[in-house]
Amino acid sequence: MMALSDKLDSQFDQLVENCMKSGAIDLNLYQEYDVKRGLRDSNGSGVLTGLTEISDVCAYDIDEGVKKPAQGRLYYQGYDVKDLVGTGLDKRYAFEQTTYLLLFGRLPSREQLAVFSEIICSLQELSGQFVRDVIMKKPSANLMNALQKSVLTLYSYDSNPDDISVPNVLRQSLQLVSKLPLISVYSYFAYRHFHDFQSLVIKPALKEYSTAENILHMLRPDGEFSKLEARVLDAALVLHAEHGGGNNSTFTNHVVTSSGTDTYSAVAASIASLKGPRHGGANLKVLHMMNDLKEHCGLDADRGTVREYLMKLLDGKAFDGSGLIYGMGHAVYTLSDPREVILKGYAEKLAQTKGMEEEYALYDLVEQEARDLLSNRSQTAKPICANVDFYSGLIYTMLNIPEELFTPLFAISRISGWSAHRLEELVNKGKIIRPAYKYVGHHREFPKM
Ligand code: COA
Repeated sequence: MMALSDKLDSQFDQLVENCMKSGAIDLNLYQEYDVKRGLRDSNGSGVLTGLTEISDVCAYDIDEGVKKPAQGRLYYQGYDVKDLVGTGLDKRYAFEQTTYLLLFGRLPSREQLAVFSEIICSLQELSGQFVRDVIMKKPSANLMNALQKSVLTLYSYDSNPDDISVPNVLRQSLQLVSKLPLISVYSYFAYRHFHDFQSLVIKPALKEYSTAENILHMLRPDGEFSKLEARVLDAALVLHAEHGGGNNSTFTNHVVTSSGTDTYSAVAASIASLKGPRHGGANLKVLHMMNDLKEHCGLDADRGTVREYLMKLLDGKAFDGSGLIYGMGHAVYTLSDPREVILKGYAEKLAQTKGMEEEYALYDLVEQEARDLLSNRSQTAKPICANVDFYSGLIYTMLNIPEELFTPLFAISRISGWSAHRLEELVNKGKIIRPAYKYVGHHREFPKM
């Protein structure tokens, strides 16, 4: 970007100041007008804005009519997600099975899953022209932006892009489920090549591999991986695939879909939302936060040192100054996030095979201390637990997956949930989503110039 001259630069500073003053709204007004800030009720739970049959996120039990925090549970089309992990054909293809379930509302038979996986495999290709003209052109440092760009450009490669009938949107959705892994991995290599002059590796996906296996195959120079590695990545994809209609990126998809726009625009908007560090981008933030902790406290830091560091984090005096402990907290879950519980189990298992037990132990210690500190500090009575992003980055690191791909992996998986919700919005011919904003400024006379 072109820099401003010194004179214009000082004018720009003035504009920034005006912008800050003009944008500041008296926080008391939110209470006065009973505005559901962040679409939350006063107790912190989300405002009810829709109905879905796709998934259920449960964080409370009702005990004699009283709502009590409980261990988190997540159901896809009525099935507990913990039962889906590690299933599929011969304990492979659990992600493909999950995608089938989310899109079609029922578990596939063995034959149906074999056919569906074959469809996904057959669509796992990108034309040389697309790779050259889209992926190789000015690759971005953050691959979530590269993903958005590629998804938006797929519109131009589609002969029927604006048709929002269910058959056409389903066709587009399956294309995106199949192609996002390739776009992500190729964009990573393109960036590394142009930025760090590393070898440019573009490997095609193999027909006999599942999505998880192909990601590992395409990323590794020798294309080799162990059964455990593929199973762990498959499980991570299952666990990130869907999380109700209210999470930020899926709600974004509902909002954008409700205007009647095309699939590529709706998915690009969801990717934009997922990139944020308070949403999917948190998995990368956790890694950077933990690296900072190791640098300042050491890999063998004891409980007291870890607690001291976390207190500095909360005071905005360590790491990125945001005051957040990344990978902790959730808008819905209270005592636990079921996805984190499962991923933690895999992280421990993988750490033993990779000789990274000390690293795992440090994560475990940080989780314990952060939970304690946050629960004591929060103004709300809601307990605070670790979320899905806490261990996912550690797992990806142990799978030798580069950090640039952490958040894209979330998108590779969540495209299944976004697609199911977009189709649900279209099948039900939802009204255009259009909440209200109260004007709290003043009406003014336009001055005579
Ligand atoms: N670090 C510091 N403070 C946190 C926190 C965290 N990780 N998680 C929650 N809190 C604070 C909130 O700011 C809030 O403070 P307040 O009562 O003074 O307003 C309080 O704890 C209760 O928050 P809660 O209502 O439970 O969460 P939320 O719905 O406002 O926010 C997240 C949910 C996920 C955005 C929030 O927990 C967060 O930013 N976490 C870190 C980023 C992250 O890991 N995101 C991935 C989510 S899957």
